[in-house]
Amino acid sequence: MSNDTISIAVSKGRIYKEALPLLAHAGITPTDDPDKCRKLILDTNDPQVKLIIIRATDVPVFVNYGAADLGITGKDTLMEYDGSELYEPLDLKISPCKLMVAGPKGEDFLNTKGRLRVATKYVNTTRRYFTERGIQVDIIKLYGSMELAPMVSLSDCIVDLVDTGNTLKANGLEATDHVCDISSRLIVNKASMKMKHDRIKQIISQISEAVNK
Ligand code: PRP
Repeated sequence: MSNDTISIAVSKGRIYKEALPLLAHAGITPTDDPDKCRKLILDTNDPQVKLIIIRATDVPVFVNYGAADLGITGKDTLMEYDGSELYEPLDLKISPCKLMVAGPKGEDFLNTKGRLRVATKYVNTTRRYFTERGIQVDIIKLYGSMELAPMVSLSDCIVDLVDTGNTLKANGLEATDHVCDISSRLIVNKASMKMKHDRIKQIISQISEAVNK
């Protein structure tokens, strides 16, 4: 990509779909549909702007290394990633949900005696949360379907995203403790912010206008 190009890494799926109106407000509309083509870098109506559609967890990696100038992904993902080359200037307020402790009904995990087994994909956030409360935990890293873990005695509880609560309910579990609220954020590579300051500032301010409309 040329030095004048602005690349935006966007988490595929729901976040991508909810980010489209915000990007449109900044004059950025993809001319390819990621559901219909296998292209990984999408052209937009602005020849100087490209969208890179990737997994949520890869977005901060691309932006931290400067492989993308900007990124859009969930706060859950950003809390797990320790990047020194990132700014997080904007809460996009899209894809809102909560990070919760959950498990079989009627349990009080924060007052358990002995070590607690917690299954999650959010290892760092989970460790911080329980350590701050003086609770010793063994964390089991999973990559999806966390709700299964307590059902098959892999863990006592889970730390996972809860939106409607339907997945917990369908599996006989309940949310017990609120870890934090989650929404998608705009992130920026620090060097890009310096080198492409005017265009990036303009994009941030236009997206911010759309968020606060
Ligand atoms: C997410 C999350 C929960 C579910 C919560 O999973 O991990 O399982 O959605 O949504 P709800 O409260 O509206 O039921 P996702 O579908 O992203 O798949 P994953 O289990 O592979 O992470």
